[in-house]
Amino acid sequence: MFGLDSRKDPFLKRPFCYFRKKRNTIDILYRVVGKVTTLMTGLRAGDAAEILGPLGNGYPLEAADGKNPIVVAGGVGIASVYPLLEALEGRAHLFYGGRTGQDLLLTDELKRLSSKLTLATEDGSAGFRGTAVDAVRAYLAGRDKRDQLLYACGPNGMLKAAGALGVAGYISSEQMMACGIGVCLGCAVKTAGGYKRACKDGPVFPIGEVFFD
Ligand SMILES: Cc1cc2nc3c(=O)[nH]c(=O)nc-3n(C[C@H](O)[C@H](O)[C@H](O)COP(=O)(O)OP(=O)(O)OC[C@H]3O[C@@H](n4cnc5c(N)ncnc54)[C@H](O)[C@@H]3O)c2cc1C
Ligand code: FES
Repeated sequence: MFGLDSRKDPFLKRPFCYFRKKRNTIDILYRVVGKVTTLMTGLRAGDAAEILGPLGNGYPLEAADGKNPIVVAGGVGIASVYPLLEALEGRAHLFYGGRTGQDLLLTDELKRLSSKLTLATEDGSAGFRGTAVDAVRAYLAGRDKRDQLLYACGPNGMLKAAGALGVAGYISSEQMMACGIGVCLGCAVKTAGGYKRACKDGPVFPIGEVFFD
């Protein structure tokens, strides 16, 4: 949870993934969408920020043992799966989608981190024309789904579509959060086992557990 401690507005911290982790630093990859991310663009070296973390769970790696790991990322969802790709040590086929080719970042780096990189754009300006999930669906045609293990991070619509592919795996929810530590219930998601807190019980859940409607 990232906030700017010198300010009362916005009062609430925002959830971010650590994207790259180095010895004494973490990198955050962010898209400017609102108040905090706009203020982040003005930060300079030495400015203070308040970070609460690490929080929540992560992607279970052992689930990919003996399987072909497929990683699907939409937009800034790529920040969440970047450490996963590193941990899978080049075994994963990455499907990375955006609206246009300009939305797709760090493609050379991502190519090095995956066994194969498939890009997908809704306007067809780079790679497969369609969403990243459409590209996975095309890839799965004629393959045994039981051999695959899917990890996905992106907007809810993408996660819902990924869950309908019929492949076992995990999704990371982009549910809005307030406290980030399991206290306020502001991040409740409806699951097969009742309401759960995305910040504390997640944000990673098995495919099929979260209801997106
Ligand atoms: C686990 C997790 C990890 C994340 N990691 C990253 C990351 O690594 N990089 C990244 O860029 N983003 C990430 N996000 C998304 C990020 O936390 C949000 O985009 C955050 O709200 C941005 O803060 P902001 O103040 O700039 O925008 P906000 O002011 O919070 O607004 C963000 C957008 O949400 C809309 N919005 C605001 N309040 C609500 C509401 N109550 N309900 C629905 N929509 C609302 C706004 O209109 C706007 O479009 C992550 C989210 C989660 C849950
Ligand atoms: S954000 Fe408060 S309980 Fe999850």
